[in-house]
Amino acid sequence: MNFHEILKQKTDRANAVIRAYLPKEEGAPARLIEAMNYSMTAGGKRLRPILMEEAYLIFGGTETVIEPFMAGIEMIHTHSLVHDDLPALDNDLLRRGKPTTHAVYGESCAILAGDALLNYAYEIMLGSFSQTARPELAARALRLLSLKTGIFGMLGGQGVDVENDGREITADLLQYIYEKKTAALLEGSLLTGAILAGASDEETAVVEAAAKNIGLAFQIYDDILDVTGTCEELGKPIHSDEKNHKTTYVTLYGLKEAQERAEALTRDAVERIRLLRGDTAFLVELALSLTSRRV
Ligand code: IPE
Ligand code: IPE
Ligand code: MG
Ligand code: MG
Ligand code: MG
Repeated sequence: MNFHEILKQKTDRANAVIRAYLPKEEGAPARLIEAMNYSMTAGGKRLRPILMEEAYLIFGGTETVIEPFMAGIEMIHTHSLVHDDLPALDNDLLRRGKPTTHAVYGESCAILAGDALLNYAYEIMLGSFSQTARPELAARALRLLSLKTGIFGMLGGQGVDVENDGREITADLLQYIYEKKTAALLEGSLLTGAILAGASDEETAVVEAAAKNIGLAFQIYDDILDVTGTCEELGKPIHSDEKNHKTTYVTLYGLKEAQERAEALTRDAVERIRLLRGDTAFLVELALSLTSRRV
Protein backbone atom coordinates (compact mmCIF):
# COMPACT_ATOMS: atom_id res chain seq x y z
CA MET A 1 0.00 0.00 0.00
CA ASN A 2 1.21 3.48 -0.76
CA PHE A 3 1.13 6.36 1.71
CA HIS A 4 -2.26 7.70 0.59
CA GLU A 5 -3.92 4.30 0.92
CA ILE A 6 -2.49 3.85 4.41
CA LEU A 7 -3.58 7.38 5.36
CA LYS A 8 -7.09 6.63 4.11
CA GLN A 9 -7.16 3.47 6.22
CA LYS A 10 -5.97 5.32 9.32
CA THR A 11 -8.49 8.13 8.73
CA ASP A 12 -11.31 5.59 8.44
CA ARG A 13 -10.14 3.93 11.64
CA ALA A 14 -10.02 7.31 13.48
CA ASN A 15 -13.52 8.12 12.22
CA ALA A 16 -14.85 4.76 13.44
CA VAL A 17 -13.29 5.24 16.89
CA ILE A 18 -14.65 8.79 17.16
CA ARG A 19 -18.13 7.69 16.09
CA ALA A 20 -18.22 5.00 18.77
CA TYR A 21 -17.69 7.61 21.48
CA LEU A 22 -20.18 10.26 20.35
CA PRO A 23 -22.90 10.97 22.91
CA LYS A 24 -26.44 9.78 22.14
CA GLU A 25 -28.83 12.51 21.08
CA GLU A 26 -31.47 11.82 23.71
CA GLY A 27 -33.03 13.27 26.85
CA ALA A 28 -33.75 16.91 27.59
CA PRO A 29 -30.38 18.22 26.24
CA ALA A 30 -30.82 16.37 22.92
CA ARG A 31 -30.44 19.58 20.90
CA LEU A 32 -27.19 20.49 22.64
CA ILE A 33 -25.87 16.98 21.96
CA GLU A 34 -27.03 17.23 18.33
CA ALA A 35 -24.98 20.44 17.98
CA MET A 36 -21.93 18.67 19.46
CA ASN A 37 -22.29 15.78 17.03
CA TYR A 38 -22.96 18.12 14.10
CA SER A 39 -19.49 19.63 14.42
CA MET A 40 -17.85 16.28 15.20
CA THR A 41 -19.24 14.57 12.10
CA ALA A 42 -19.02 17.47 9.63
CA GLY A 43 -15.62 16.28 8.35
CA GLY A 44 -12.05 17.09 9.30
CA LYS A 45 -8.72 15.45 8.61
CA ARG A 46 -8.57 13.70 12.03
CA LEU A 47 -4.87 14.56 12.15
CA ARG A 48 -4.62 14.63 15.94
CA PRO A 49 -6.06 11.16 16.67
CA ILE A 50 -4.04 9.73 13.76
CA LEU A 51 -0.82 11.24 15.17
CA MET A 52 -1.74 10.01 18.65
CA GLU A 53 -2.29 6.42 17.58
CA GLU A 54 0.85 6.47 15.46
CA ALA A 55 2.97 7.48 18.46
CA TYR A 56 1.24 4.75 20.49
CA LEU A 57 2.10 2.13 17.85
CA ILE A 58 5.69 3.34 17.43
CA PHE A 59 6.29 2.71 21.14
CA GLY A 60 4.60 -0.68 21.03
CA GLY A 61 1.16 0.09 22.49
CA THR A 62 -1.43 -2.68 22.08
CA GLU A 63 -4.35 -1.84 24.40
CA THR A 64 -7.75 -0.28 23.60
CA VAL A 65 -7.00 2.54 26.06
CA ILE A 66 -5.80 4.61 23.10
CA GLU A 67 -9.35 4.75 21.67
CA PRO A 68 -11.04 7.01 24.26
CA PHE A 69 -7.99 9.26 24.04
CA MET A 70 -8.28 9.44 20.22
CA ALA A 71 -11.95 10.43 20.50
CA GLY A 72 -11.14 12.81 23.34
CA ILE A 73 -8.45 14.76 21.50
CA GLU A 74 -10.70 15.21 18.45
CA MET A 75 -13.44 16.53 20.76
CA ILE A 76 -11.02 18.99 22.36
CA HIS A 77 -9.88 20.10 18.89
CA THR A 78 -13.44 20.41 17.61
CA HIS A 79 -14.44 22.44 20.66
CA SER A 80 -11.63 24.85 19.77
CA LEU A 81 -12.94 25.16 16.20
CA VAL A 82 -16.57 25.73 17.24
CA HIS A 83 -15.46 28.53 19.56
CA ASP A 84 -12.84 29.89 17.12
CA ASP A 85 -15.59 30.47 14.54
CA LEU A 86 -17.94 32.35 16.89
CA PRO A 87 -18.83 35.96 16.03
CA ALA A 88 -16.82 37.14 19.06
CA LEU A 89 -13.68 35.38 17.80
CA ASP A 90 -12.98 34.86 14.08
CA ASN A 91 -16.61 35.23 13.02
CA ASP A 92 -16.60 32.60 10.27
CA LEU A 93 -19.61 30.91 8.70
CA LEU A 94 -18.13 27.77 7.11
CA ARG A 95 -16.20 24.91 8.71
CA ARG A 96 -15.42 21.44 7.40
CA GLY A 97 -17.49 22.25 4.33
CA LYS A 98 -20.63 23.03 6.30
CA PRO A 99 -22.20 26.08 7.95
CA THR A 100 -20.54 26.65 11.34
CA THR A 101 -22.25 25.41 14.48
CA HIS A 102 -23.37 28.89 15.55
CA ALA A 103 -24.80 29.52 12.08
CA VAL A 104 -26.99 26.42 12.37
CA TYR A 105 -27.81 26.20 16.08
CA GLY A 106 -27.41 29.82 17.21
CA GLU A 107 -24.70 31.39 19.28
CA SER A 108 -25.79 30.32 22.76
CA CYS A 109 -26.10 26.68 21.71
CA ALA A 110 -22.72 26.78 19.93
CA ILE A 111 -20.97 28.20 23.00
CA LEU A 112 -22.44 25.45 25.16
CA ALA A 113 -21.77 22.75 22.54
CA GLY A 114 -18.09 23.81 22.54
CA ASP A 115 -17.98 23.71 26.35
CA ALA A 116 -19.75 20.36 26.38
CA LEU A 117 -17.32 18.84 23.86
CA LEU A 118 -14.36 19.89 26.00
CA ASN A 119 -15.97 18.42 29.10
CA TYR A 120 -17.17 15.25 27.38
CA ALA A 121 -13.63 14.61 26.15
CA TYR A 122 -12.45 14.36 29.76
CA GLU A 123 -15.50 12.29 30.77
CA ILE A 124 -14.53 9.73 28.14
CA MET A 125 -10.79 9.75 28.85
CA LEU A 126 -11.36 9.47 32.62
CA GLY A 127 -13.41 6.37 31.87
CA SER A 128 -10.41 4.70 30.18
CA PHE A 129 -8.64 3.34 33.26
CA SER A 130 -10.25 -0.11 33.01
CA GLN A 131 -8.85 -0.46 29.47
CA THR A 132 -5.21 -0.60 30.52
CA ALA A 133 -2.98 -2.61 32.80
CA ARG A 134 -1.18 0.65 33.60
CA PRO A 135 -3.83 3.20 34.67
CA GLU A 136 -1.07 5.41 36.11
CA LEU A 137 0.01 6.10 32.53
CA ALA A 138 -3.55 7.12 31.60
CA ALA A 139 -3.53 9.52 34.58
CA ARG A 140 -0.19 10.97 33.40
CA ALA A 141 -1.48 11.38 29.86
CA LEU A 142 -4.59 13.15 31.14
CA ARG A 143 -2.59 15.62 33.17
CA LEU A 144 -0.32 16.33 30.21
CA LEU A 145 -3.26 16.80 27.85
CA SER A 146 -5.07 19.16 30.23
CA LEU A 147 -1.89 21.27 30.47
CA LYS A 148 -1.46 21.38 26.68
CA THR A 149 -5.13 22.39 26.26
CA GLY A 150 -5.32 24.96 29.02
CA ILE A 151 -4.25 28.50 29.85
CA PHE A 152 -0.56 27.72 29.31
CA GLY A 153 -1.42 25.81 26.12
CA MET A 154 -4.06 26.05 23.39
CA LEU A 155 -6.56 28.24 25.23
CA GLY A 156 -3.86 30.65 26.35
CA GLY A 157 -2.67 30.90 22.75
CA GLN A 158 -6.19 31.56 21.50
CA GLY A 159 -6.56 34.25 24.17
CA VAL A 160 -3.40 36.08 23.09
CA ASP A 161 -4.35 35.58 19.40
CA VAL A 162 -7.79 37.22 19.56
CA GLU A 163 -6.62 39.93 21.95
CA ASN A 164 -4.18 41.07 19.26
CA ASP A 165 -6.58 41.20 16.31
CA GLY A 166 -5.92 44.45 14.47
CA ARG A 167 -2.52 44.98 16.09
CA GLU A 168 0.93 44.62 14.68
CA ILE A 169 2.76 42.18 16.91
CA THR A 170 6.40 41.19 17.26
CA ALA A 171 7.84 38.01 15.78
CA ASP A 172 8.36 36.73 19.34
CA LEU A 173 4.72 37.16 20.29
CA LEU A 174 3.56 35.56 17.04
CA GLN A 175 5.83 32.62 17.82
CA TYR A 176 4.26 32.36 21.29
CA ILE A 177 0.75 32.36 19.81
CA TYR A 178 1.58 29.58 17.32
CA GLU A 179 3.38 27.46 19.91
CA LYS A 180 0.32 27.63 22.13
CA LYS A 181 -2.79 27.85 19.97
CA THR A 182 -1.75 25.11 17.54
CA ALA A 183 1.52 23.35 18.41
CA ALA A 184 0.48 22.60 22.02
CA LEU A 185 -2.40 20.35 20.93
CA LEU A 186 -0.21 18.52 18.40
CA GLU A 187 2.34 18.00 21.18
CA GLY A 188 -0.51 16.72 23.34
CA SER A 189 -1.54 14.28 20.59
CA LEU A 190 1.86 12.67 20.02
CA LEU A 191 2.87 12.80 23.69
CA THR A 192 -0.34 11.12 24.84
CA GLY A 193 0.27 8.22 22.49
CA ALA A 194 3.89 7.93 23.62
CA ILE A 195 3.04 8.15 27.34
CA LEU A 196 0.23 5.58 27.12
CA ALA A 197 2.61 3.15 25.42
CA GLY A 198 5.18 3.59 28.17
CA ALA A 199 7.83 5.70 26.39
CA SER A 200 10.71 6.89 28.57
CA ASP A 201 11.29 10.53 29.58
CA GLU A 202 14.13 10.78 27.05
CA GLU A 203 11.84 9.47 24.32
CA THR A 204 8.94 11.77 25.21
CA ALA A 205 11.35 14.73 25.12
CA VAL A 206 12.26 13.87 21.52
CA VAL A 207 8.57 13.42 20.65
CA GLU A 208 7.66 16.76 22.21
CA ALA A 209 10.34 18.68 20.30
CA ALA A 210 9.33 17.04 17.01
CA ALA A 211 5.62 17.67 17.66
CA LYS A 212 6.26 21.32 18.43
CA ASN A 213 7.91 21.85 15.07
CA ILE A 214 5.21 19.91 13.21
CA GLY A 215 2.65 22.10 14.99
CA LEU A 216 4.40 25.35 14.17
CA ALA A 217 4.71 24.30 10.54
CA PHE A 218 1.05 23.26 10.53
CA GLN A 219 -0.09 26.72 11.62
CA ILE A 220 2.22 28.42 9.10
CA TYR A 221 0.64 26.32 6.31
CA ASP A 222 -2.79 27.20 7.69
CA ASP A 223 -1.89 30.88 7.29
CA ILE A 224 -0.50 30.27 3.81
CA LEU A 225 -3.66 28.41 2.77
CA ASP A 226 -5.78 31.26 4.12
CA VAL A 227 -4.17 33.30 1.31
CA THR A 228 -3.47 30.75 -1.45
CA GLY A 229 -6.13 28.06 -0.87
CA THR A 230 -9.69 27.75 -2.06
CA CYS A 231 -12.81 27.69 0.05
CA GLU A 232 -13.92 24.48 -1.77
CA GLU A 233 -10.76 22.59 -0.88
CA LEU A 234 -10.42 23.91 2.67
CA GLY A 235 -14.09 23.74 3.59
CA LYS A 236 -13.68 27.05 5.42
CA PRO A 237 -13.56 30.67 4.27
CA ILE A 238 -10.29 32.01 2.87
CA HIS A 239 -8.97 35.47 3.81
CA SER A 240 -10.30 35.06 7.35
CA ASP A 241 -7.00 36.37 8.76
CA GLU A 242 -7.10 39.49 6.59
CA LYS A 243 -10.72 40.11 7.55
CA ASN A 244 -9.72 39.98 11.22
CA HIS A 245 -6.60 42.13 10.62
CA LYS A 246 -4.34 39.44 12.01
CA THR A 247 -0.58 39.46 11.98
CA THR A 248 0.45 36.07 10.57
CA TYR A 249 3.62 34.43 9.28
CA VAL A 250 2.50 35.53 5.82
CA THR A 251 2.05 39.21 6.71
CA LEU A 252 5.27 39.22 8.72
CA TYR A 253 7.63 37.24 6.45
CA GLY A 254 5.87 36.97 3.09
CA LEU A 255 4.63 33.78 1.40
CA LYS A 256 8.02 32.51 0.22
CA GLU A 257 9.83 32.84 3.53
CA ALA A 258 6.83 31.49 5.44
CA GLN A 259 6.92 28.37 3.23
CA GLU A 260 10.70 28.00 3.69
CA ARG A 261 10.43 28.31 7.45
CA ALA A 262 7.67 25.69 7.58
CA GLU A 263 9.74 23.31 5.44
CA ALA A 264 12.77 23.81 7.69
CA LEU A 265 10.67 23.13 10.81
CA THR A 266 9.35 19.94 9.17
CA ARG A 267 12.85 18.77 8.25
CA ASP A 268 13.95 19.30 11.84
CA ALA A 269 10.91 17.36 13.11
CA VAL A 270 11.61 14.47 10.73
CA GLU A 271 15.24 14.24 11.87
CA ARG A 272 14.06 13.93 15.46
CA ILE A 273 11.37 11.35 14.64
CA ARG A 274 13.95 9.20 12.85
CA LEU A 275 15.88 8.97 16.16
CA LEU A 276 13.00 7.09 17.80
CA ARG A 277 12.82 3.32 18.17
CA GLY A 278 10.00 1.56 16.34
CA ASP A 279 8.65 1.92 12.81
CA THR A 280 8.50 5.66 12.14
CA ALA A 281 8.07 5.47 8.36
CA PHE A 282 4.40 6.49 8.27
CA LEU A 283 4.87 9.33 10.76
CA VAL A 284 7.77 10.70 8.72
CA GLU A 285 5.72 10.58 5.52
CA LEU A 286 2.73 12.16 7.24
CA ALA A 287 4.85 15.06 8.52
CA LEU A 288 6.38 15.55 5.07
CA SER A 289 2.98 15.37 3.36
CA LEU A 290 1.81 18.38 5.38
CA THR A 291 4.35 20.57 3.55
CA SER A 292 2.35 20.24 0.34
CA ARG A 293 -1.12 20.06 1.82
CA ARG A 294 -4.03 21.83 0.13
CA VAL A 295 -6.54 21.12 2.94
C1 IPE B 1 -7.61 23.84 11.95
O1 IPE B 1 -7.15 22.54 12.18
C2 IPE B 1 -7.21 24.72 13.08
C3 IPE B 1 -5.75 24.91 13.19
C4 IPE B 1 -5.10 24.59 14.25
C5 IPE B 1 -5.02 25.52 12.10
P1 IPE B 1 -7.26 21.42 11.04
O2 IPE B 1 -6.74 21.96 9.76
O3 IPE B 1 -6.62 20.17 11.56
O4 IPE B 1 -8.83 21.24 10.91
P2 IPE B 1 -9.71 19.92 10.60
O5 IPE B 1 -9.75 19.13 11.86
O6 IPE B 1 -9.07 19.18 9.47
O7 IPE B 1 -11.06 20.47 10.25
C1 IPE C 1 -7.05 28.40 15.14
O1 IPE C 1 -6.29 29.17 14.30
C2 IPE C 1 -6.32 27.60 16.11
C3 IPE C 1 -7.27 26.98 17.07
C4 IPE C 1 -6.89 26.59 18.22
C5 IPE C 1 -8.70 26.80 16.71
P1 IPE C 1 -7.12 29.72 13.07
O2 IPE C 1 -8.18 30.67 13.53
O3 IPE C 1 -6.17 30.21 12.04
O4 IPE C 1 -7.80 28.37 12.53
P2 IPE C 1 -8.79 28.32 11.28
O5 IPE C 1 -8.03 28.89 10.11
O6 IPE C 1 -10.00 29.13 11.64
O7 IPE C 1 -9.07 26.85 11.11
MG1 MG D 1 -8.54 31.88 15.14
MG1 MG E 1 -10.20 30.82 12.67
MG1 MG F 1 -6.41 29.93 9.96
